[in-house]
Parts: sequence; structure tokens; C-alpha cells
Amino acid sequence: MTNFAFEATGPGSVAAHRIGTAITGPVTVLPAELLNSARDVQAPAGLSNLPPLPLCLGRADALARLRGAFAAEPGQWATGTATVQGLGGVGKSTVALAYAHWHRRDHTVAWWINAASPAHIEQSLAALALRLIPAWAGRAAIEERAAWAMMWLQWHPGWLLLFDNVEDPADLRPYASAPDGCVIATSRRAVGWPAAVPVLALGVLDLAEASELLCQHVLGETAPTPRQLQEARALAADLGRLPIALEQAGAYLAQNPTIGIESYRRKLTAKLDKASDGHDPERTVARIWRHTISTLTERNPLAVSVLSTLAWLAPDDIPVDLLAPTADDDTDDVHEALGLLRAYCMVSLTQDTVSVHRLVQTTLRNQPTLGGAVPAGRLAGWPAGSRTAAVRRGRPAGRTTELRPIPRLGAAPPAPRRARGHHS
Ligand SMILES: Nc1ncnc2c1ncn2[C@@H]1O[C@H](COP(=O)(O)OP(=O)(O)OP(=O)(O)O)[C@@H](O)[C@H]1O
Ligand SMILES: [Mg+2]
Repeated sequence: MTNFAFEATGPGSVAAHRIGTAITGPVTVLPAELLNSARDVQAPAGLSNLPPLPLCLGRADALARLRGAFAAEPGQWATGTATVQGLGGVGKSTVALAYAHWHRRDHTVAWWINAASPAHIEQSLAALALRLIPAWAGRAAIEERAAWAMMWLQWHPGWLLLFDNVEDPADLRPYASAPDGCVIATSRRAVGWPAAVPVLALGVLDLAEASELLCQHVLGETAPTPRQLQEARALAADLGRLPIALEQAGAYLAQNPTIGIESYRRKLTAKLDKASDGHDPERTVARIWRHTISTLTERNPLAVSVLSTLAWLAPDDIPVDLLAPTADDDTDDVHEALGLLRAYCMVSLTQDTVSVHRLVQTTLRNQPTLGGAVPAGRLAGWPAGSRTAAVRRGRPAGRTTELRPIPRLGAAPPAPRRARGHHS
């Protein structure tokens, strides 16, 4: 052998003169019988974890383009990858979810994946394994379950996977190149996608759709008068036709029926410096938020305190009983506050979890009056380690903010509430 010096630095590096097989990085090895089970296990009919079908106005074009991204030969399953990209709150997750529901029957399995980080993706795939092979998966480690799910997906074409909120396009690479099914990703990221992946840039709603969405939230089934329609168009235009802004403004007006659309618009625009605000979604939401928050402060200050706590947690499926009451309130007060926040579209609730839209969280955290620091009161009882894991600021990049490992803190069980789905 020639006398060379070999050097390898950094995680996963390999240096060698001659290599037979080299494996770097974390590898999960599954025994042969599990590999066979990935081939043999059949999915129950209609297997899916999709959140409920959302209201999705307009978007016919985006839905048709998604459909077009998935080519299928006659008698074959459709395959392909597409990314829905756009501003926060523009409706990316809504379009992806609507597509999944409308084309549910074209796929064997439809699986919604929180793709905020590789760890989140692994967790969602592990959950798929749990549904397919519960006896083994119930005892297996998360990475084993996720590896098994990947094997299963390779053996059983025809599925639809939705990777929601992809932060880094590189995270999608293991799943998106030449898939045996259909992959839809949603992301705010405009660049960094492989050239072969079609990127659908989702814009704001057109003015007619935007004012219709506003009217639906304000008036429900009641048809707007011509004047209301005109006012709704003006407000929708001021809000940049951004769905999340329209939804929240509509929720405010529905909760305060004596306030007219036009007078609400004037109050909002009075605070607006058009030149600097533009249509930055965070600023648009901030304007609505400031208005809503002053009303909430009058009606129920506890709601504002709960919301400012929620702004610092992982956004989805926060267990309600983690919101410990303080000395000044009790569990029922916390539940009432959550009910009010839901009425104003600031949060969505299920029986025992609460979710906050990511854009609302960012906006809240950036408000100097409330968001400047992690609120101490409601988090004070949490063990220091759990608190660090749950609080977003200062979290190392890619680290999960899942709240599941945090122990129950509230003493009393949550009161029953009506279920409502959420996605963001
Ligand atoms: N076409 C639509 N019709 C009715 N409501 C919509 C529509 N699009 C979005 N919405 C509503 O607007 C809000 C924001 O939508 P969504 O969560 O899909 O945005 P997003 O682009 O995924 O945002 P983010 O980048 O923050 O994840 C949701 O509450 C949703 O219900
Ligand atoms: Mg989203």
C-alpha cells in the first residue's frame, strides 16, 4: 500500500484507501421478519389521519395544478411530488388538505405529516407504523417505526403523503425523489427545491373570493346587502386579501355584531401606515390582533394571559391541561378563556388540545407589550428541562418543540368541550 495520509473531519466523514461498504450517519437496521411484515401487512381501507375538511374558497386553479403534477398511466397509481409555497397565512395547508380530501378515493392511505423538522417527520411516520402494525410498533423505538413505515411505503404504492410546513427543503429529500405515491409539501420557503419538483406559488385570494370569505365569517348563511358587500370589499382589500387576516377580522365582527364593517375598517386603517406596512402578513395580522386584544382585555383579561403563554409553545395540539391555573384563576376560568379565544379565531380547540396558528404566535411574540419575554406565571410550575424544551426562543435549530414529553401539570381534568379540527 502506498504511504498516504488519510484524514476525515466532521460528523459522518469517512477516510479510507479502499472501501468495500461504508455506512455513515444514524442507521436503523430492521430484522428480516420485520422487512417481510412491511411487505405483507395490508392497510385497512381508508387509512388516514387527515384533519377535517376545511372551508376552502376559490383555489380551483391551484387544485387543478396539483392534480396535474401527479401523472398516472392508465391502470397505474399516480406518483409525483409537488410543493405549495407562499406567505404565512395565505392558505397553503388549507389547499393541500382540501386536495387530500377531494382526492381521498384515489389513494390507499392519506397521511398528514408535520414536517417542521426531521424529528417531526420521523414522529409522523412512526405514527403511521403504529396504525399499520400496532402490536410490534407499540414496543418499538420511534426511529425503528419510522424505518418500518418507509419500507411499507415502498412495498405498497398508491398513497398520498402531505408534508406540512417544511422548513428546510433538504428535509424532504429522502421522501420526494421518485416516490411510489404522491407527495405534497407546503412551505414558506421559495428557494432550495430540487429542479424536478414543481413549485406552486400560492397567492392571496382575488377580491371577490376575499370579500366572500369575509362575509361568510361575519354573516354566516345570511346574504350580504349591497352596502355590506361594498364595505367587505374595501376591508378585504385593506387586509391584503390574506385568508388568515380575513378570517380573524371576520371572527371579530361576528363576535361584535353592533360594530359595522366600515367602522371596523376605519379603526384598523387609522393605525396603518400604508407605506411601511405593505402586505407583510405579520403586520396585517398584527393590526387585527392589536384591535382584538384590546377588546379581549376588556372582556376577559385572562384570555390575553393564556394567549401570550400559548405564543411560546409548539403551535399544534398543546394539551389543555398543561395550562395550569395561577393563584388568581381556576381551571374553569382557563377553559372559558380558551372558548373566547376560539370565538375570535385566535386558537382552535379539540376535546383536550389547543392549537395556535404559527403566524399569530410570531405576531404575538413580537409585540413589545406582551411578547417581549416568556410569560412566567403559567409556565412557572413546569420542570426546568420541560420548560426549555417547550419554549421556542433559544431552541437549537431543528430541535423538536413537541410538548408530549411534558408531564401533566393541571390538577383537575379538563371540562368537556366541542371538538373542532385545526391545521396550520
Ligand atoms: N381558501 C380559503 N378559504 C377559506 N379559508 C381559508 C382559505 N385559505 C386559508 N383559509 C384560512 O386562513 C387561515 C390560514 O390558512 P393556512 O393555515 O392554510 O395558511 P398557511 O399558508 O398554511 O400558513 P403558514 O405558512 O403559517 O402555515 C386558516 O385558518 C384557514 O382556515
Ligand atoms: Mg400551513
